[in-house]
Amino acid sequence: MPSRLIRLSLRFVLPLALVLGLFAYAVVPLVDNLTLRWFVRDLDARSQSLANALQEPVSEYVTQNAERRITLLFDRALRDERLYALAFCDPAGKLVYKTESYPASLACMPDQKNDAPQSMVRLPKGPVHVSSNTVERDGQYLGKLVLVHDMSFIERRSEDTRKYVIMLFALMAVVISLITVLVAHLSWRNWISSVKGILRGEMNPRQEQPQWTPPEVRPLEGDLRALLHDLNMERRTRDDTTHIWTPEKLRALLHEELAGDEVLVVSNREPYAHARTPRGIEVQRPASGLVTAVEPVMRACSGTWIAHGSGSADRETVDASDRVPVPPGSPAYTLRRVWLTKEEEAGYYYGFANEGLWPLCHIAHVRPVFRSSDWENYELVNQRFADAVIREARTDDPVVLVQDYHFALLPRMVRDVLPKATIITFWHIPWPNPESFGICPWREEILEGLLGSTILGFHTQFHCKNFLETVDRYLETRIEHETSTISYGGKLTQVEHYPISIAWHDPRPEDPSVAECRSAIRREHGLPDNHLLAIGVDRLDYTKGILERFQAVERLLEMHPALVGKFTMIQIAAPTRSSLDEYQNFEARVRALVQRINTRFSSGNYQPIILKAEHHDAEQVNRYYRAADVCLVTSLHDGMNLVAKEFIAARDDDRGVLVLSQFTGAARELHEALVVNPYHIEQSAEALYRAVTMPEVEQCERMRSMRSLVKDFNIYRWAGRMLLDAARLRQRERIVAKIRSHSRKSLRRVV
Ligand code: F6P
Repeated sequence: MPSRLIRLSLRFVLPLALVLGLFAYAVVPLVDNLTLRWFVRDLDARSQSLANALQEPVSEYVTQNAERRITLLFDRALRDERLYALAFCDPAGKLVYKTESYPASLACMPDQKNDAPQSMVRLPKGPVHVSSNTVERDGQYLGKLVLVHDMSFIERRSEDTRKYVIMLFALMAVVISLITVLVAHLSWRNWISSVKGILRGEMNPRQEQPQWTPPEVRPLEGDLRALLHDLNMERRTRDDTTHIWTPEKLRALLHEELAGDEVLVVSNREPYAHARTPRGIEVQRPASGLVTAVEPVMRACSGTWIAHGSGSADRETVDASDRVPVPPGSPAYTLRRVWLTKEEEAGYYYGFANEGLWPLCHIAHVRPVFRSSDWENYELVNQRFADAVIREARTDDPVVLVQDYHFALLPRMVRDVLPKATIITFWHIPWPNPESFGICPWREEILEGLLGSTILGFHTQFHCKNFLETVDRYLETRIEHETSTISYGGKLTQVEHYPISIAWHDPRPEDPSVAECRSAIRREHGLPDNHLLAIGVDRLDYTKGILERFQAVERLLEMHPALVGKFTMIQIAAPTRSSLDEYQNFEARVRALVQRINTRFSSGNYQPIILKAEHHDAEQVNRYYRAADVCLVTSLHDGMNLVAKEFIAARDDDRGVLVLSQFTGAARELHEALVVNPYHIEQSAEALYRAVTMPEVEQCERMRSMRSLVKDFNIYRWAGRMLLDAARLRQRERIVAKIRSHSRKSLRRVV
């Protein structure tokens, strides 16, 4: 029986047992008294009839002074086991005849106590019943016959009665308790299920059968329905009418729904790094999908972004509290830097996060490496960031947006100190199936850490399902699949999919046109204006399918030799995690493959693949997007992939074709892309051919449709949906608290 049930039952049983105990304590002497009176009355009657029977012989023998016969008569009478003694007193009150057992202290005037019944006398041997009866003959008063009955059997019976009464009360206590607890539990379950039904019915208007509500819950029902209805309508209206989510909408939502302006973001990567260069300190933007997505949200919401200060001049640019206002030049929020030693960074970031969790979650056939020392650093750094969150929080219920697999433990750490915080954790990478995740030696700790979140977000429903199944496999929790919630340690975590996106910008007049970009980029690479150009933009990561992409280019040129000299793929590959062997090997393999393919197909200045393995800022990348005929995204496994969406957003000419891996989250939204299995090289090559030969009308149709989707489902919607859900959960918690207090009151009334 769960301890909650035991506690609830004790709430009924203990007071009941106490009251019945007190009752028994008061009732036992009453019952005692009553039975004593019954017995005394009984003995009175008995003595009377015995005296009547003895009247005749006693009067005769007394008149004859026949002592022997009187003695014989008395002895015979004493055979009645209850009759203890007999005596005869003359009219002068002198004891004339008596049995041997007659107590001397009684004489002819028994000494009676006030509180005892008249006929009861307490002797040292125990209580006796004494009755004196007049003896007459022919109207002449001869004296008194005194009968003494033993009352010790009454004591014994009283004892028994007392025992039975106590047992009866104990039995009653047990039976009444059981019935009360049963009734209370049934009512409680009934109330809870009806309240749940109300919640579900209101949350899910498709529910057909309005359910029956018990009378006790009815006073609450109206309030509850009205509240939930308002909440739902408001949310739905806002969701529907907010066709375009904008920074302003997001800001307004934050202030209205979450009653505060305090948003704290935690990520490993900082949005702005200060680097020391020969030209002085320069600000750098990292190549990170996470930063691309979250930065516009922070600009809209203000607040504080807590991240690892990894730039070479980061320490020189912060204030005494390690804070720096960003973006430089037009500050909108605060960047709070957290410092790590080289060793901590090696263990937490390179080790556990990127050699362990990254390959574990991306099924890209690279073995995860788990070391205890890395795990220790991961725990330590999570705690340091959690402490920073707690220190930066100005209220006890901040909204904390935790980013990615670097901070699986942080939600629980923050929750332990700030139980009222709304913690929204977003897992930017895929979540594998339970078997794959199960190889992590610290799987339970990671799951427990993540379940400190109010909301846990993934890009796709598939990753949510994997997560729920993983939790189900490895932790003792209660999972409501219908509502996608996990109850662990008395707290709920909502697991939901929120496909991430980008900030949508309409082109500015000063931006170079697509035509300008096309010719400029081609010119810069010594290519003619009509040269077919494919673009790939990725971090140099083994999950991105860069090798497979180049193999597809090779196959394309094999299958369609007419394209040799007319088609080029430019790959922008930002160096990443270069200190890890796996990444160094990968880069070496990429370079070798590019060299082999280029050697095979090059002629003169022509090279089919141009590898630009260096960092490019957003503006430079945008020029390439606009210049390209095709964008290739061939990840072997990717949470979302924002390059696909950036390419679409860049193409305000409604041209260009996206070739997209089916193993990206983006493929679940962008159905007008040419979706490929990157492991299937021929298929990718064919898709590439189809892309470079696609008629403009078809390009236009596909691109328009994808643009309208990305425009609507932008990054503000991503953040807005999470924040709205967080607001809804906060509200629901308040309602549940109200229900609990109402139910407690009702229960008290029933009992
Ligand atoms: O995809 C996961 C992720 O954290 C992204 O959000 C981000 O684009 C990328 O990895 C960056 O990796 P890092 O911060 O290790 O360079």
